[in-house]
Parts: sequence; C-alpha cells; structure tokens
Amino acid sequence: MHESQAKQTMPATTTRTKRDRTFEQPRDDLPRNTVLHADALKALGDLPAGHVDLTVFSPPYDGIRDYGKNWTLDYKTLGSELFRATTDGGVCAVVIGDGTRDFAKSLTTFRWAVDWVDRAGWRLFECCIYQRHGNPGAWWSQRFRVDHEYILIFFKGDRPRFFDKTTLMVPSKHAGKVYSGTDRLTNGGFKKIEPKAVNDMKCRGTLWEYATSNTEGNRTKLEHPATFPDKLAEDLIMCFSKPGDLVLDPMCGSGTTCVMAAKNRRDYLGIEINEEYHRIARRRIRSEVEADCRLF
Ligand SMILES: C[S@@+](CC[C@H](N)C(=O)[O-])C[C@H]1O[C@@H](n2cnc3c(N)ncnc32)[C@H](O)[C@@H]1O
Repeated sequence: MHESQAKQTMPATTTRTKRDRTFEQPRDDLPRNTVLHADALKALGDLPAGHVDLTVFSPPYDGIRDYGKNWTLDYKTLGSELFRATTDGGVCAVVIGDGTRDFAKSLTTFRWAVDWVDRAGWRLFECCIYQRHGNPGAWWSQRFRVDHEYILIFFKGDRPRFFDKTTLMVPSKHAGKVYSGTDRLTNGGFKKIEPKAVNDMKCRGTLWEYATSNTEGNRTKLEHPATFPDKLAEDLIMCFSKPGDLVLDPMCGSGTTCVMAAKNRRDYLGIEINEEYHRIARRRIRSEVEADCRLF
C-alpha cells in the first residue's frame, strides 16, 4: 500500500482502543507503511496488544544530541508500552550508549536493561557492541575515545519467534588455513582436534562493526544529526523478522529502519515527534523505496 493511501485509511480512534486484543492477521484499519508525526508513547498507546513483530530504534540519551527540543523520554513507560504492543516471541533492539559527566559514565544503558527485564517483562537475548570509528572529541587527552554503542536485544516470551543469522556472516581471519592442534576442556584437560580447513566465512559474534552514516553519502539522511547506519538496521531486520512482518521504529529520526524494512519486503511503522525529521523520513521513503518496493 502506498504511504499516502496508508495515511488515508488510518482509522478513526474507534477500534484501536481495544488494547487487550491480540490480532493474528494484519488488520487494514491499523497504521502500516507510514510514518506518524507523533509522540511515541501516545502513538504506542493507540496500538492494540501483539501488533508489532520487531522494533529497531535508537532513543535520545543523556542529552548528548540536540534534536531541536529537549523531548523528555520516560523509558520505563516506553518499555511497558512496547512490550504490550509486541507479539509473543517478538524482538526489540535498542541502540544506545552512555554519556560521560565529570569523568563518570551515566550507566543509562545498564539501568535501561535492568528495568526493562525486571519490571516491563522483557528478556535480554544479547547485548552486542556496535563498534564505529569515532572522533577523539573534546576531552581526548583525559579519556578514551568512545567508539562503541550497545545494541540491547530484548525478546518477549519463551524465545525469539524468528532468528536467522545467515545474512550476518563475516570473513574468517584464517580462511584457507588448516586448523589443527588441541582444544582446552572445561576440566583443564586437552582434546586433540582433527585437522580441518577454515571456512571463508564465519558467523558474526557479539561485536558488530560499521562505518558511521557520514560515509554513506546520503545527503537527505545527514540532515538529521544522529542516525545509525542503514546496514545496522538491515542486519537486525534480516536476523529477527521475515517478509511481511511489521517492523516498528518509535523514534525513527530520518527513517533508517523504515527504509530498510521496506527495501527488504517487511511492513514498517515509524513514529517521530519532530516535524522537520518527520519530513526527512517521508522524503527518504519516497526517494529510496518508491522505485523498487511492492508497497508503492
Ligand atoms: C537517535 S535519533 C534516531 C535516528 C534514527 N535511528 C535514524 O537513523 O535516523 C532519535 C529520534 O527520536 C526522536 N524523539 C525523541 N523523543 C521522541 C518521542 N517522545 N516520540 C517520538 N520521537 C521522539 C528525536 O526527535 C530523534 O529524531
């Protein structure tokens, strides 16, 4: 469905107030393939339970960036609202870091993880490191350069309903060599390993490395001050969702998650509170997705 059509068929408030129903089939009267100009908490409150398959987003944290206004973020309520709106087995990936003040880290990431697990009901699947190549920054002579953020990957229920890491392969450092020798056992002993060739590719671990958005050459995207790389969003989408799933970004900024979801044949829903960024996200969807996507 075209974004403008999706907007026109947006429901009046009637059926969306049934917050406790879980819908097994996508419903026509709920927003899909559109970016809402709204406060995330308000818009999430209008979604029924179990509506979203995967959420990928990066929130403002520790006042590090100026997004045109100091929007307050109640991350505790956000955790509960996202949990309610997510389907059983659904996943929520949060790209986040910690600010530093008077030489001490804020611990925002850690507080967020503990609160969402202990109180909101999420379970933590993994905490990956998003490694980027940052600038030394102000205080460079007194601190380490910070060149990572965290990717907190939460899931709802017994296990993630979809997990496919085949698109996350990385080149093996020792490709082509023959591996032999011994493995260390947990009891301290040794086990002999039969010689075998090292594969060209291996599965990625918990360290995810990307160049920053500055190198992507996307001028429209760079009108937003704090975007994450397209490939980071795409890797999460491919790993934790399947075609036709609904992928949400409740603080979508320039629309990176929405663009990558649509390009990979997922439905998307973006929410952005800032009018200018909302316009950027819609422009990106029109120019980057329109040409080759079934939704348009
Ligand atoms: C780190 S940026 C997201 C960037 C995005 N991942 C991208 O690649 O373009 C965070 C965004 O959250 C938005 N935001 C902050 N508070 C919000 C709220 N309560 N509801 C919706 N959006 C909000 C900000 O305006 C900002 O654009």
